[in-house]
Amino acid sequence: MANITHLSDLVIDQIAAGEIIDRPSSVVKELLENSIDSGANMISLNINEGGIARIEVCDNGRGIDHKDLPLSVARHATSKIKDIADLNHCKTHGFRGEALSSISSVSELKVISKNGDNSGGYKLEKIDSKWTCSPSAAKKGTTVIVEDLFFKFPARRKFLKTKATEHAHCRNSFIKTSLVHNNINWYFYSNGKELIKMPEQLIHERFANLCGMEANRINHIKKTIGPVTFEACFPFSENERKIKNNQFIYVNNRAINNKTLMHAVNSAFDAITHGKNDFNIFLSLKMPNQLVDFNVHPSKTEVRFKDNSAIYEIVTNSLRESFKKCAGEMYTNEIFDINAPKKNPTDNHLINEVNLPKDKTSKQKKFNLQSLKNLTNESFSEQSASISPINKIPPLGYALAQLHGIYILAENSTGLIIVDTHAAHERILFENYKKNIGRGNLEIQKLISPVLIQLSEDKIEVFIKNSSLILKMGFDVIKIGSDVLSLRGVPDLTKNLDGEKLFLEIIEDLSAYGHAQGFDSRLMELLGNLACRSAIKANRKMTIPEMNSLLRAMEKTDYGGKCNHGRPSWAELNLENIDKIFLRGR
Ligand SMILES: Nc1ncnc2c1ncn2[C@@H]1O[C@H](COP(=O)(O)OP(=O)(O)O)[C@@H](O)[C@H]1O
Ligand SMILES: [Mg+2]
Repeated sequence: MANITHLSDLVIDQIAAGEIIDRPSSVVKELLENSIDSGANMISLNINEGGIARIEVCDNGRGIDHKDLPLSVARHATSKIKDIADLNHCKTHGFRGEALSSISSVSELKVISKNGDNSGGYKLEKIDSKWTCSPSAAKKGTTVIVEDLFFKFPARRKFLKTKATEHAHCRNSFIKTSLVHNNINWYFYSNGKELIKMPEQLIHERFANLCGMEANRINHIKKTIGPVTFEACFPFSENERKIKNNQFIYVNNRAINNKTLMHAVNSAFDAITHGKNDFNIFLSLKMPNQLVDFNVHPSKTEVRFKDNSAIYEIVTNSLRESFKKCAGEMYTNEIFDINAPKKNPTDNHLINEVNLPKDKTSKQKKFNLQSLKNLTNESFSEQSASISPINKIPPLGYALAQLHGIYILAENSTGLIIVDTHAAHERILFENYKKNIGRGNLEIQKLISPVLIQLSEDKIEVFIKNSSLILKMGFDVIKIGSDVLSLRGVPDLTKNLDGEKLFLEIIEDLSAYGHAQGFDSRLMELLGNLACRSAIKANRKMTIPEMNSLLRAMEKTDYGGKCNHGRPSWAELNLENIDKIFLRGR
């Protein structure tokens, strides 16, 4: 007996909904994205009972023509693309025409909209299981109301968590989606109470609010590298922020989850604050659609880059370079500047536009990512060459004395420099260890008896492809069978770690991203701890020449303005501020 039948459209929608709509926060994301796509500059979200009972999104965008209203909830119906080629220049969040039909298959959905025509507003709702469109009072724009999510689906509904948890997810979804769209006024209400209001404002101001910091304590970097625009905000000091773990990563204005990017960001942060990954960052990359594919999953939160490795390099190099430049001086006069009027936060943030010369960028038209990498390195060396002024008095001046065995006091051309000896020395040692490792292979510690490791064919291939890198990392490994490796030595520095486990993690990382973060971050942690243990401790008397040589070493050291834990290593009190303390010249 034949058993195969076509599924009804409703069942197909309900199955498809499972991919996009798993909880109230995913409805929130889809509706907010539709409002962004509508060109609105005011969007409000109103949820009740954590979004389980009701979600309402209201915008002042272009609205939907009443003849199109029934189509808006039809499956695979969209106004955003016409054919597949349009994906190459599609700038909207949506393009699959699935969200409203999926949501309506698992909830009670209403759309009220009025477009710019003189025809009034219309409301689309299901009456007796039939979509019905009728005139309704409305302002220009669209309001979508979603009630009783999964009401008829007890199996799905039981996967929902408490109202408080669902509320938290909706809030996260609101923040993630809205943050990057800083030309839009956003409002978030829960059970009628206004919880978040984000006016149109500069991106670093929004980010500062989220970190619980003043906007003038946030670095804001923006630069163009070939076809890619890189923009990042991060606090001057990781120790200052009140709220931790705010990590926002966007590609072409979409909040995305991407292992390569997260890995690249982690690895850049490892260089300053090893071992900690609760840092705060806003990172936004913009690139032509040809270099990135968003059509990986219906929720469009995953992306595939045409060249993972080039994007990885751009992110780590740009962030590291920014960290190097932004360490140090921001801890200085401002902290002591007791009489200074409070700065307008917008005055002080750093914007670093590095636009490459036109002839170079025009070569990038073909989006050749190999040359993009070269370009990245070139732009960095150009920059650092331009920031090395030759002054008679060195920037950190000459040592005068030691204070309480902890601080070095030095005089430079503008005033007094105060150095935290341990913090500064720790950074110098850490950067030195890193450099030495960069120069050659890590020292290998031979194992008394080799460990045999069996791997799948593809992992063996990864090993062969990366064997010189693996040796550089201090692993002595040879292939002794079609799927067996013999581990004969591990990096000397990893004495206290399980060498075999570490090796397997590296192979995993290399096969997944082409980079080995597990090792990088573990190595950084080891080197960091080593540096901390070896650095000058408090109460150790130092001679003036010793202090001066430490000051000179700091000037030459990358990230010299911060210790390995992100604390500042020096600060400056300039004469002007010293004069203010003593009311001189008044
Ligand atoms: N807030 C809105 N403002 C204007 N048009 C909207 C809005 N929400 C939905 N639409 C219209 O409904 C269509 C279907 O929306 P959706 O199912 O989310 O698919 P997609 O966003 O992928 O096109 C959109 O293409 C758009 O034309
Ligand atoms: Mg949509």
